[in-house]
Amino acid sequence: MLGLEYATGPEWVQAVLPHRAALLIEQAHLEKKAASSAISFLFRYPDEISLQAPLAELAREELEHFEQVLALLAVRGIRFGRQKPGTYAARLTSIIRPKEPDRMLDHLLCNAVIEARSCERMRLLAQGLAEVDPELAEFYRGLLGSEARHHGLFVELAKGVHPPEAVEARLEEILAHEAGILSAAGPRPRLHS
Ligand SMILES: [Fe+2]
Ligand SMILES: [Fe+2]
Repeated sequence: MLGLEYATGPEWVQAVLPHRAALLIEQAHLEKKAASSAISFLFRYPDEISLQAPLAELAREELEHFEQVLALLAVRGIRFGRQKPGTYAARLTSIIRPKEPDRMLDHLLCNAVIEARSCERMRLLAQGLAEVDPELAEFYRGLLGSEARHHGLFVELAKGVHPPEAVEARLEEILAHEAGILSAAGPRPRLHS
């Protein structure tokens, strides 16, 4: 999957299982954040025609996921609210270069890596929860279908506006950077930590 360099181990799943409520609240925030990030591309790069419709569709999908998570939280009597954000996204995006067009490329690729990591961990959750919480396992499986498409979409969009070799080379660097962040972090009961 996108050549993630750090493989999340089974100890992560074991660590998160007792924290399902916090994990679901985080999931809601992540979906909302993903929608907001896609919309911010539309505002920042209105002249990049190839980004517009795919990212508008992606934003809609992420907002639908947000609504689905909110509904599940309500069913489970879990109150949605603020949550102290993890440091993963901030640390990952610290690699984004400030000048265009590098900035756009790095941003698209960071989003690709975030989607790929979500996808990897949601798949682990779908498997790990199958026995203990089949309803939740099914829920993560349902979200997975879209997330599996999203990471490829960001790479594809990047290749539409930047030379494909440059995209591949930069993706390697960002994947190595992301692996460094996760291996230094140790397992935390969050999808992104
Ligand atoms: Fe999503
Ligand atoms: Fe996504």
